[in-house]
Amino acid sequence: ATMLTAPAFAQDYPERQITMVVPFAAGGPTDTVARLVAEKMSGDLGQQIVVENVGGAGGTLGAGQVAKADPDGYTVLLHHIGMATAATLYRNLAYDTPNAFEYVGLVTEVPMVIVARKDFEPTDFKGFIDYVKANGDSLTLANAGIGAASHLCGMLLMQALETPLVTVPYKGTGPAMTDLLGGQTDIMCDQTTNTTQQIKGGTIKAYAVTTPERLDLFPDLPTAEESGLAGFEVSIWHGIYTPKGTPAEVNERLSKSLQTALADEGVAKAMADLGTAPSSAEDAMPAALKAKLESEIARWKPVIEAAGVYAD
Ligand code: MLT
Repeated sequence: ATMLTAPAFAQDYPERQITMVVPFAAGGPTDTVARLVAEKMSGDLGQQIVVENVGGAGGTLGAGQVAKADPDGYTVLLHHIGMATAATLYRNLAYDTPNAFEYVGLVTEVPMVIVARKDFEPTDFKGFIDYVKANGDSLTLANAGIGAASHLCGMLLMQALETPLVTVPYKGTGPAMTDLLGGQTDIMCDQTTNTTQQIKGGTIKAYAVTTPERLDLFPDLPTAEESGLAGFEVSIWHGIYTPKGTPAEVNERLSKSLQTALADEGVAKAMADLGTAPSSAEDAMPAALKAKLESEIARWKPVIEAAGVYAD
C-alpha cells in the first residue's frame, strides 16, 4: 500500500465529504451535539460533514466501525464518556480503546437529569428515593445500552439507592424518550440536551440534576448530592476521534475547525439553551482529549469493578 506522505496529504485535506459517526440513534443527545458542531465545521472546512448514526451495544458498535476505518481523515467519531466506561464494561471489545484512535479534541460537557414519566407518583427527589427503594424491582429504567451515559448514571443510581431496577436498553435515548413520554417506562437518567424541552413542557417529570451545583436552566431542581446522594456526580464530556494512523496534520486541521465551531456564538447559544456550554479552545485540542480519556478510564474502572457490572 502506498504510504500516506503526511505533508502532501494534509496540505489538500479535506478534498471530499467527511463522515462523522455518532454511535447512537438519531435524535438523541449525542446526535444533537454532533449535528450542532458538524454544521459549523463543514463551513470552516469547505466540505460537507455527513452524520452517520450507528447505534447498538452502548456505542461500542459505532466506535468499533471507526476504529477499523481508513486513517485518511474522512471518517471521524463523535463519542462521549462511554468511550471510557466501555473500556472496562466490555471485556472483549473489538478495539483496544486507548490505542485505537487519534484525538481531535473535547466538544462539550453535558449535565444529566434524573427524570421519570410525567405521572410518576413521587412529588420531589426525597420522595423519589423512598419510592424507588420501596418499589425498585418493579420499576423500569430506560437507557441506551451498556456503555451509554444513561447506563452509567442508572448504574450509579441503583448503587446509591441499593435497589436493582429493570433496565430497558434502546439504540439511543432519543428512542428511549419516546417510550418515556408514552409512559411505557418509568425512569431515565439523561442529558439536558435531550430532556430540557420535555421538562419545560411538563411532558416528563424532573427530580434532580447530577452536577455539583444546580443548573441556571432549572434553578428549582436540586442536585442529587444535596438530596442525600453524596458524591453522586456525573457529567457527560464529548470528544472527536479519528482512526489510529490518521496523520497529525489532519487531526490538527480538524481541531482548528472544531475550535472555530465552538467559538461560534450560535453554537454557544444553542448549547446554553440545552443546559451546556462549548469546551474551551485549549480543551478542543488533541492533547486535552487524550488526557481526558486516559484519566476517565482510570476513574471509572474501579467504580465499574466495584459494581460488578459487565457487558458480557
Ligand atoms: C447515552 O445515554 O449515552 C446517550 O444519551 C445516547 C444517545 O445519544 O442517544
